[in-house]
Amino acid sequence: MSFSLPQGLSITWFGHATFLIQTPRGKRILIDPFLSGNPSTPADKKDPGPVDLILITHGHSDHILDAPEIAKKSGAQLAVIPEIAAYLQSKGVDGGKIAHMNKGGTIPFPEFGLHVTMTNAFHSGGINDGDQVFYGGEPSGFVVTLEDGFAFYHAGDTCLFSDMALIAEFYRPALAFLPIGDRFTMGPREAARAVRFLSTVRAVVPMHYGTFPILTGTPEALIRELEAAGSTTEVLVFQPGETRAG
Ligand code: NI
Ligand code: MN
Repeated sequence: MSFSLPQGLSITWFGHATFLIQTPRGKRILIDPFLSGNPSTPADKKDPGPVDLILITHGHSDHILDAPEIAKKSGAQLAVIPEIAAYLQSKGVDGGKIAHMNKGGTIPFPEFGLHVTMTNAFHSGGINDGDQVFYGGEPSGFVVTLEDGFAFYHAGDTCLFSDMALIAEFYRPALAFLPIGDRFTMGPREAARAVRFLSTVRAVVPMHYGTFPILTGTPEALIRELEAAGSTTEVLVFQPGETRAG
């Protein structure tokens, strides 16, 4: 059975780990805003438009670069780890808009018709600011659960870890955004194993590849690995700038 996005839900990939998810209620969630300096983002897609909620997985510039500006311009709410909250406030983001959270926690956003869970990720998380690197807290992933129960998982930057099985068991995402670029994250082989740990996931969107030449993992390699493992999980390959809607 082929996977289809829930009716009214749309997903835009800006390249790398940056996604805009518009919910059936019309709420717009921006994850890991990296647009202005993102070589994959088409020139006419550098502005994500209105944003209601910003989620940031970790402090690396390829995940946070445009967060201060977009947060200020859009007036969006943010849900971030406290160290990233402090950084954003130092850049002029209104602290009243920032929901602090940490791994294992879930925050309801009833006004948006969803809740957000911060999950584990294994990576690093320093924030580059000029010639200094600040502690940015630990890297994370997110599960967003909509009011109809549909949930998706954005893994952030991470290696493979078997507790992804717990993320599936507890939060039951049907869709997962997984890094496949290798070098700084999982490559296709590890991501294919991640899909098997994520037993509730019926479709995976590969990310964090192709942005720079050193991110060598490809969706084709992921598809081959999944086929070799006998997986029936679908791979949804977006083009940078592409929007798909259910
Ligand atoms: Ni990173
Ligand atoms: Mn990254």
